[in-house]
Amino acid sequence: MIHYKTNEEVELMRVSALLVSASLTEIAKILKPGITTLSLDIVIGEFIRDHQGIPSFLNYNGYPFNSCISVNEVVVHGFPNGTELKEGDVVSVDVGIIKDGWHGDHAYTFSIGDPGKENIQLIKVTKESLYKGIEKAVVGNRLGDISFAIWEHTEKKCGFGVVRELVGHGLGIEMHEDPQVPNYGRRGTGPKLKEGMVLAIEPMINLGTKDVFTEKDGWTVKTKDLKTSVHFEHDVCIRKNKADILSDYIPIEAAEKANPHLFSDY
Ligand code: MF3
Ligand code: CO
Repeated sequence: MIHYKTNEEVELMRVSALLVSASLTEIAKILKPGITTLSLDIVIGEFIRDHQGIPSFLNYNGYPFNSCISVNEVVVHGFPNGTELKEGDVVSVDVGIIKDGWHGDHAYTFSIGDPGKENIQLIKVTKESLYKGIEKAVVGNRLGDISFAIWEHTEKKCGFGVVRELVGHGLGIEMHEDPQVPNYGRRGTGPKLKEGMVLAIEPMINLGTKDVFTEKDGWTVKTKDLKTSVHFEHDVCIRKNKADILSDYIPIEAAEKANPHLFSDY
């Protein structure tokens, strides 16, 4: 069942979403070679609690960390760990927060130094595809219009692999609400988009083939060919002429640009 949000509820969700954006901004400030993803996870947990939020990923189906940090061939649900990040790493940071009962959940992919031409193109195109999808997230369209726009820009146009096994989702009182939001699909199909639907739209796009597998830990999803995967996610409310993006990449991008250890010339 799809839950449509009132304007008041959307404003509460914006607070949650912006707190996620702020936590990703903190990460953008401190990312550098030599830092461990576990230390980033600790910063995220402290930031969330300092702002009266609850890290929603922690203990979700037994997930053991505050965040998912997915490096290079890890698609999503990477466990923060003690390995030091190094020059050329492509790092997706995914954070979920409950604040006053409402969920925020989004992700951003950073590069430590120069990740190379192919990865730069993959990151650029994946982020663009998120906005192509969001352009279609308006009243009167159907869900398949969002999915198709993401697929068209990444797999059809650029030959990248769109992960099929993992999808975006409705967001609200629960982290995962209806409907599912695949990153591939057919125009004009699926549920009609209506005012007050809030979706987490999250392209997960592979440099090589679309095929993935899950590690023995039950969480870590990797590309089968071990080539890079990139993940961006925004929280979006369906409106009449233009979607309302509740999350905010502007402060994250500003911190990315200001951090000399991060590549930002996309
Ligand atoms: N952003 C992801 C999602 O939408 C992460 C949640 S997985 C968790 O599904 F287990 F870490 F919570
Ligand atoms: Co999500």
